[in-house]
Amino acid sequence: MEKYQGIIFDLDGVICHTDRYHYLAWKALADRLGICFNEKINNRLRGVSRMESLEIILSNSGQIYTDTEKDKLANEKNENYRRSLAQMTPENLSPEVKGTLDFLRKSGCRLAIGSSSKNAGFILERIGLNGYFDAVVDGNQISHAKPDPEVFRCAARRLGLAPENCLVVEDALVGIEAAVRAGCDAAGMGDARKSSLAKYHLAAFSELKEVCG
Ligand code: BG6
Ligand code: MG
Repeated sequence: MEKYQGIIFDLDGVICHTDRYHYLAWKALADRLGICFNEKINNRLRGVSRMESLEIILSNSGQIYTDTEKDKLANEKNENYRRSLAQMTPENLSPEVKGTLDFLRKSGCRLAIGSSSKNAGFILERIGLNGYFDAVVDGNQISHAKPDPEVFRCAARRLGLAPENCLVVEDALVGIEAAVRAGCDAAGMGDARKSSLAKYHLAAFSELKEVCG
């Protein structure tokens, strides 16, 4: 068992199931445009920035879109997505996740969010975790999205810790790569559980108690 001084959590698909809302909002857009989009393609959007996600979806359209058109499409998706986020309440934070976070904090770990999302602050507020984390680094503060290591290096620095003393928890393959490139250990869950770069492969969030407790 390793004792980590800090744990950096991805948000969408790790702390809460906003990954589902991302999927539904992209699916609505793709359907309207007549572009093929499914769960398998959606897995390639995990951890990837909003505009890069749109590029992946549009690459199946066989059409060229101008930057202005792309901005409009990204806004349409984001407005739809934010309507789902606005429905969220603290009930959307599972007792398993909240109990595990509280346990890790009590055992002395510093806790951070490292997310590509520009909606991270809004999500944390909706699920009742505003002000809970020792540091929050999100898509508004970084220039390079995952798999670039910037978000996790920045989160470790904000925690006042060396990356090698931090564990990153991720559901995205690009997120695991970003963590390892930052010098952190990585725990994969969901789609990232299969990553060979991850040191831990979590079947449930609460398994972090054994990894870090
Ligand atoms: C990541 C998601 O957390 O945030 C990606 O895994 C998403 O799917 C990215 O594209 C950007 O999110 P947002 O909320 O800024 O559109
Ligand atoms: Mg994620």
